[in-house]
Amino acid sequence: MEHSDVEKVVVFANWKMYKTAEEAKTFINMLVKDFKDIEKLVTIMCVPYPYIAALCPLCTDTQIHIAAENMYELDWGAYTGEVSAPMLKSVGCSHVLLGHSERRGYFGEKDESVNRKFRCAQKHGITPIVCIGETSEEKQKGLMHDILQRQIKICIDGVSKENPCYVAYEPRWAIGAGITPELGDIEKTHRFLRETVTARYGEEVSQSIGILYGGSVNKENAYDICTLEHVDGIGIGSCSLDFDCFSASLRNAVAAKE
Ligand code: PGA
Repeated sequence: MEHSDVEKVVVFANWKMYKTAEEAKTFINMLVKDFKDIEKLVTIMCVPYPYIAALCPLCTDTQIHIAAENMYELDWGAYTGEVSAPMLKSVGCSHVLLGHSERRGYFGEKDESVNRKFRCAQKHGITPIVCIGETSEEKQKGLMHDILQRQIKICIDGVSKENPCYVAYEPRWAIGAGITPELGDIEKTHRFLRETVTARYGEEVSQSIGILYGGSVNKENAYDICTLEHVDGIGIGSCSLDFDCFSASLRNAVAAKE
C-alpha cells in the first residue's frame, strides 16, 4: 500500500473476459466523473489487455488506476501471445493482478511463477495485487492456514517497503459463488495474514502492504466487510461489471471508513 493510502479504502474491480472497448470506455468515464474527488478512495480497475492503453489517459491525475489482469514473468522474448511488464508500463498501466484463482485453476499458475511475476512487476514499478486463498477442498481438510502461510512465503518473497503491493485474500470457493465466509471469519483470517506477513517480512514491510478481501463482494456486503479490522479494502468481480452495483459498493466502502 502506498504510504499515503493508509487511511484510504482500496477497491479493485476485476472485469475478467467481459465488456467491449466501447462499454469499457463509457464505464470508466462515468467512474471518473462520479469518484475522482473522493479522497478516501483508491480504485483499481483490472481490465482486459486491449483496453488498457485507451483507458489509462481517462484516469490521469485521479485516484482511479488501470490494471492488467495478468502479465508474463519476463521482460521481452519469443513468447507468443504473452504481455510483459515493460509493455504494460509503456502504455501507462500502473498495477497488475497476479495469481488470480482463475489463472491458477484454468491455466495452472503456481505460487513460484506468481512470485517471478511479482518480482518482475516490482522491478518495473508496477504495483502488484497478489491473490491468495484456499480451495474448498483445502478448507475442508483443515489446510487453510498452511496454504495461506505458504502463499505468503512464496508469492511475495522479495517484497520491500519501497515497492508497494497488495495482498488479496480471495477464498477460491467464494469467487463467483454468491457466498462469503462469515464476517468474523474474514476478520480472523485477515488478522492471521497480517501476523504472518509481519512475522516473515517485519513490521515496516507489513505496514506497507494493504490486505484486501475478495470473493462475492457486492453492494450489500461491501460496508460490513470494509468495517472489519485488518481489512484495508475489497476486490469485486461480477458486481464490478454493472455500474450501479459497483458505484454503490464504492460508496459503501468509503462510508465504512468514515
Ligand atoms: P466475484 O469475483 O466478486 O464475482 O466473486 C471476485 C474475483 O474474481 O476477484
